[in-house]
This record gives sequence, structure tokens and C-alpha cells, in this order.
Amino acid sequence: FPEEIRANDFELVAESTQKTLAGDAPSDIYTLNGALPSPTIRIKRGQSLNINFQNRITQESILHWHGLIVPPAMDGHPKDAVQPGQNYNYRFNVDQRAGTYWYHPHPDQLTGPQVYRGLGGFFIVEDDEEQALGLPSGDRELPLIVQDKQFNSSGQLTYNIGRMDRMMGFFGNTLLVNGRPAPYHKVSTNWHRLRLLNGSNARILDFSFSDGHAFHVIGGDGGLLEQPHEISSVMLAPGERADLLVDFSRYEKGQKVRMQAEAQNGGGGMMDMMDGNRNGGMMDMMDGNRNGGMMNGRQSRRGMQGMMGDRDRRGSTSGGEADILEFRIAKEKQEEFELPGRLAKRSYPDASAADRSRRINLTMEMMQGPAINGKFFEMMRVDQKVPQGALEVWEFTNNTMMPMPHPMHIHATQFNVLERSGGELSPHERGWKDTVLVGAGETVRVLTKFDAPKGLYVFHCHNLEHEDNGMMANFEIT
Ligand code: C2O
Ligand code: CU
Ligand code: CU
Repeated sequence: FPEEIRANDFELVAESTQKTLAGDAPSDIYTLNGALPSPTIRIKRGQSLNINFQNRITQESILHWHGLIVPPAMDGHPKDAVQPGQNYNYRFNVDQRAGTYWYHPHPDQLTGPQVYRGLGGFFIVEDDEEQALGLPSGDRELPLIVQDKQFNSSGQLTYNIGRMDRMMGFFGNTLLVNGRPAPYHKVSTNWHRLRLLNGSNARILDFSFSDGHAFHVIGGDGGLLEQPHEISSVMLAPGERADLLVDFSRYEKGQKVRMQAEAQNGGGGMMDMMDGNRNGGMMDMMDGNRNGGMMNGRQSRRGMQGMMGDRDRRGSTSGGEADILEFRIAKEKQEEFELPGRLAKRSYPDASAADRSRRINLTMEMMQGPAINGKFFEMMRVDQKVPQGALEVWEFTNNTMMPMPHPMHIHATQFNVLERSGGELSPHERGWKDTVLVGAGETVRVLTKFDAPKGLYVFHCHNLEHEDNGMMANFEIT
């Protein structure tokens, strides 16, 4: 597990180094305070932070606090990126709901490679409302960042971005949990809280357990849901989080259960998973008949069987799932816990009170890749102006000619997903969110209030290659 920082005043130093992640050959990676994955920042609501970010890697960089509402100069806008050797000082107050947020670099056109090589960690906010529930904590609370990476035959991390990767996103052939391939973890026969983050560059993942057992989702991007929902799988696009409660008391000491992930999109990457090379993805994409998942990121379990290949199956028996983490039941029960029936008070604004509705078209520019309203990112161009305090409906329409899902993320706010044209909302989408998957051909409407301090922020696709390729826009709160 990532190490934790529980302080208000600290440094985060990004460095380039080498480390063996899979196989024997060392990979070029980036660490934060010498660690990969980056440390977990844990803070209580109401506290203020003073963070000195030191960029010691060979590219410009800047950190963004994903899901937190902070002033524009603290938000990691790409214009604030600092050169190698320079520092950036963050000072802000955290006054929002308890939840599983995260942080990662955000420099223009370089976010993908920097997250891919290891920068990014959890940012966990706690508050009294949540504490009163007595949810599993300590060694029964497990933050899990899941990311797919591409390793070559000697086990070296590769990130060679071609035109097709910029178009589709970069897909790996191996899934890592907290920076490790197929780790195991010893648990007791107690309830555990799993904070799950899909930190992949582009891969949409559907998580479940090898024995098909149900679990409860209690939170999404922006903290606790109103009540727990029992589910047997949860699909997360890059940037999304789910807070889960899993009851291991149904197992006995000595038993094992594996957490699995099924890939739901990926052109070239899908072939990689099968044969370890990077050709053929385009053909898959064009013939369009084998991967329902890519056509619409939300369609589940079909047409994707076998895509993970044997290499990462690690003993899995079923078709398209890859085992990502094994839980070994090691100890008997130590604590009583009862699943609360209610988690949080309902606090969403009423859509009928919205001041206006904005259409955001996710478009595809010929030969150049996906864009927002036909435009690629420009550092200082203001694409949307939002009056401070406005309650708005943002309507994301994904009409791209190529069937391609886009996880859309808005900075400086948490929103409520009103509806998606392609079907029902998933349980984890029924709470506060900052990132929402917009499947091919879908329209997704979100309701959000812009209470952040005035200034310039971005919204973008969280497929990081799309973002780096310019599927990002500025909005100014005025
Ligand atoms: Cu998680 Cu603007 O990003
Ligand atoms: Cu963000
Ligand atoms: Cu996208």
C-alpha cells in the first residue's frame, strides 16, 4: 500500500529514476518522495494544507488535486506548470465532503506519460459525518489504484505513442495494483473497505470477485452515497473511484478469493493482451463486431472474452477477466460491524432550478482525434464562461464517428449525474461525481453548481491521451 502523509505542511518531490516493476529489467519511472505509487494524502475536512511541490523530473510538471475544489492558482492548470528544478507552492483549505479523491500531474500534453510512469496518488478526506458510521478503517481500509501498463518482453515499461494511440488512448498488457502485478493481500474474516481508483491512462475496467460474490458500493467520486447498494461488479473509467464494502466473514481461514478486472475498451491494447504486440488494433476497431465494450464503454461482459490472454490470467478460469489481486483469508474475525442502512443525507440541488443548460459536443476532427465542440485545447482561450454561483446543466453529447467512450471530468466542482441516454445510471454514479463516462452515441446530463473561486479551470476527457491530444477546454468562473 502507498505510504500515508498525515500532515499539513510537507514537500512532494518528483524525481526520475529506475525500478523493476515486472520481469527483470528496470523501467524508467517517476517517483514522488521516492515512492511508487505516490503517497496517500489523508486529511480531515476543514484543515488547510501547505504543500511544496518540487519538480525534479526532466519535463515541466504541475500537480492537480482531482475532485477537490480549490482556487484556480492551486488547481494545477497546465499554464502553471513549472520547469525541471523549480518548485510550486500550494496553500489551500479542504472544505468538502469526506471522500476518495486523488492527485496527479497536469502539464499540457504531458499528463499521460507522467501518470503512466508513476505520478499520482490518493487524496483521502475524512469528516465527522463519515466517522460517525464507524466504517472499517486501519488495516481494514485498502486504497487500491489500478492501472494497465505495457511491458515489453524483458519487463520494461514502454510508452510509445503513435497516431493511433493519440486517437484511441494508450492501452497496456498488464494490470498493476498499487504499482505491482498480481499482488496478494492477507485479510481477516471481517468487513473491509476498498477504495478503488481506476488510474489507467485509457482503459475502462469492470471489477468483480472470482467467485461472483456480491459486495456493497457506498461511495463514488465525491464521497458517500445516500445508502449502500449491493452489486456484483462495478465499472470504472479512468479517473473514477468507487468506495466498496466487502464482507470477508463469509470465508474461512485459508481460503482465497481474487479480485478481477475485465477490460471494457481498447483498440490496439486488446490485441496486445492476446499476443503481446501492437498491431491489429485498428482492424478490431473498424470491424466493430467483436467488442461491444468499446462501442459503448458501459455495456458489460460481452464480446470481450479472452482479451486479457493467458499472460495475466494467473489461474483465472473464466473468460475475459484478469485477476488483479488475491485476498488470502488469514485471520478470524476481530471486530463486529454492521452495514449501515443510511450513509449520508441527500443534498443534491433540484434540476428545475438550473440557471441554464450548456451543450458540450464531443467531436472527432478528421485525422486529428477527438475534440470538444470541434476545438483542441489552447492554454489561454476561454471556452466557457460561467457566472460564479450558477447552477447549470452540462449536457455531454458523444457523437463521434468512431465508437469511442469519453470519461468527462470537470475541475473545481462535484456534480450530480441526471441521466444518460444509453441506459440506467450505475449505483456508484448516483452520488456526487467529478468524472462521468459518456459512451459512444450517448448524451449524459450533469447538474452542477459553480461555487469555486473566480478564475480559469479546465474540463477534459480523462482518457489521458485524449487529454494530451487536446480534448480539453478552459472554463472561467466570472
Ligand atoms: Cu484527474 Cu484534470 O484531471
Ligand atoms: Cu481533476
Ligand atoms: Cu476521450
